[in-house]
Amino acid sequence: MESYKLGSSEVLSSRLIYGCMRVVGDNSNKSRKKGKQALLTAIEQGYNHFDHADIYGGGECEILFAEVLKELSYDRNKIIITSKCGVRKKDNPYKNDPARYDLSKKYIIKSVEGSLKRLNTEYIDLLLLHRPDYLLHAEEVSGAFLELLNSGKVLNFGVSNFSPSQVSMLQSYCEQPLLVNQVEINIHNITSLTDGTLDQCQQLKITPQAWCPLGGVAYPAWGNTFTVEDEMRIKSEFDFQAKKYNTENWIIMLAWLLKHPAKILPIIGTTTPSRIKDAKQALDIHYSREDWYRLLEARQGYAVP
Ligand SMILES: NC(=O)c1ccc[n+]([C@@H]2O[C@H](COP(=O)([O-])OP(=O)(O)OC[C@H]3O[C@@H](n4cnc5c(N)ncnc54)[C@H](OP(=O)(O)O)[C@@H]3O)[C@@H](O)[C@H]2O)c1
Repeated sequence: MESYKLGSSEVLSSRLIYGCMRVVGDNSNKSRKKGKQALLTAIEQGYNHFDHADIYGGGECEILFAEVLKELSYDRNKIIITSKCGVRKKDNPYKNDPARYDLSKKYIIKSVEGSLKRLNTEYIDLLLLHRPDYLLHAEEVSGAFLELLNSGKVLNFGVSNFSPSQVSMLQSYCEQPLLVNQVEINIHNITSLTDGTLDQCQQLKITPQAWCPLGGVAYPAWGNTFTVEDEMRIKSEFDFQAKKYNTENWIIMLAWLLKHPAKILPIIGTTTPSRIKDAKQALDIHYSREDWYRLLEARQGYAVP
């Protein structure tokens, strides 16, 4: 699969990233088996970049991933492991603790150590701050990054769900370049196109990654605000373009993301082997500017002025 450098680094990521959030499903033996097969397929299909978080499957997704690499005796240096930290669930660690974000130095380091153990690895290639903590203290975060870098536990850093001003503020405190901003981008959520996120990515050489790229196409979007009429109009345009490019609607969605000059890396979250493979079709489509705008128009319900 074609690869791209992450941000201003020399780290080469496959153009499609495999997202590991769903690989343990309900954590039954059956789901874990399906997740293993998905991971094996992703590796076989040339995905070299795997997206994790300390909280996915309560830590079980990282554990399953380590099991797969061990069974394959896979060369750790051939893959990029991203993990994230900073989201704390309700009742963690004490009953009645609220759901919260925690980007304190202590918690960032503790979270990384947990991920390293579960992933059975000595280093994480890319650590992302999962969500902006309202109480984020930039100097403290910068101190945590430096300590993790110096100890060799984390090689590179980035953020997720950060606004452009939050990225600028944090970057002004950190010596290490923030390589990535991982945000939701799909046909429903196009905020990053309009709030300056993708402009900033191009300006500062930050790689945007799209989570839930198929929300609103393959399954209902988070916080869906589309009306039935919107959905019918959007689907009709997807159907038209899928026929034109001789593919399926969800592949068109990926092609739409890939067309953006900020070089968005979509994170593929399906656990179905054929879909993990077929997602690569999007890389071969010569998707036109006109079709990009047609889909935008179908989404908005009006033409650009
Ligand atoms: N940073 C963040 O805050 C954040 C938040 C959410 C996710 N993420 C990351 O982003 C990754 C991708 O997110 P995601 O899993 O929501 O991505 P996605 O690729 O948009 O969605 C995957 C889901 O869509 C289903 N699906 C895919 N293709 C389909 C099709 N053609 N028809 C019907 N259903 C289809 C899959 O079902 P099957 O598995 O049955 O095929 C799976 O349930 C995650 O794994 C995680 O790494 C990050």
